[in-house]
Amino acid sequence: MVPGEFPMSVRDFSEIAAIVKTTSGIELPPSKAALVYSRLGKRLREHGLNNFHAYCSLVRDDEDERQRMIAAITTNVTRFYREPHHFDHLREKVLKPLIEAARRGERVRMWSAACSTGQEPYSMALTVLSVLPEAPRLDVRILATDLNPFVVEHGRRGIYEEHELADVPAELRRRWFEAVASDGARRWQAIGDVRALVSFRELNLLGRWPMKGDFQAIFCRNVVIYFDRPTQVMLWDRFEKLLAPKAALYIGHSERLSDEVGRKMDQGGITTYVKRDGARQ
Ligand SMILES: C[S@@+](CC[C@H](N)C(=O)[O-])C[C@H]1O[C@@H](n2cnc3c(N)ncnc32)[C@H](O)[C@@H]1O
Repeated sequence: MVPGEFPMSVRDFSEIAAIVKTTSGIELPPSKAALVYSRLGKRLREHGLNNFHAYCSLVRDDEDERQRMIAAITTNVTRFYREPHHFDHLREKVLKPLIEAARRGERVRMWSAACSTGQEPYSMALTVLSVLPEAPRLDVRILATDLNPFVVEHGRRGIYEEHELADVPAELRRRWFEAVASDGARRWQAIGDVRALVSFRELNLLGRWPMKGDFQAIFCRNVVIYFDRPTQVMLWDRFEKLLAPKAALYIGHSERLSDEVGRKMDQGGITTYVKRDGARQ
């Protein structure tokens, strides 16, 4: 099916696509065969295998390798303050109206639901600190989850290359990141209150969600685009149910809500939806 070092038949590709779909929800149409081939070549080399047929047998029986395969296939591209208008909305329309309640000790919860390597939840934390510097001493928390344990660990450590911080204003960079030696290079680690606000967990959006309580903001951006429409519709419904009245849902620029959930939300800006007061069922 794809010419190269490791033979990959149509059947091998279909088997990989089926495992990826049931495990993660990600759709791999045949047009993605070359991408699958290039992303998994390293896995085959690591195991000393010379064809995808053998790799499929390995993946069938080995859960750890299945996880590595999904990690190799998923796209983790992200950056600090990606789509800055979402963070402006979060600050002005969600957080500022909640400041007094938070200071009285009321609970404020936010969720970055496919957080990749952590730039999204840390941008949320920097936004929170800009209006509520004492947030870590209050009942204010950001949950950051992803299916891929390797990116979750990266986020938890919070270490980034200098160029990755280009979109963080210089003053915030000086205050909230410190230089560390990591893998022989100078990198920057998030510190103090920024780290304290964010809890990283592994979570598959297709599985059980153990979290309790309402969220005032959910960022679910640039992940459902990889799922089929019924899975997207099911997920929008689950997110909407977890939102408090007037809470915001931020989605990726090429994603679109289901009609049913759209009817319960007001448009708060580009790809920004605010749950209507009284829309709780
Ligand atoms: C392109 S990144 C998006 C990161 C961030 N939300 C942003 O917009 O910058 C997509 C992330 O979705 C995660 N992902 C894919 N399938 C998932 C699933 N079923 N459950 C949870 N996370 C998933 C991937 O591991 C990856 O880190």
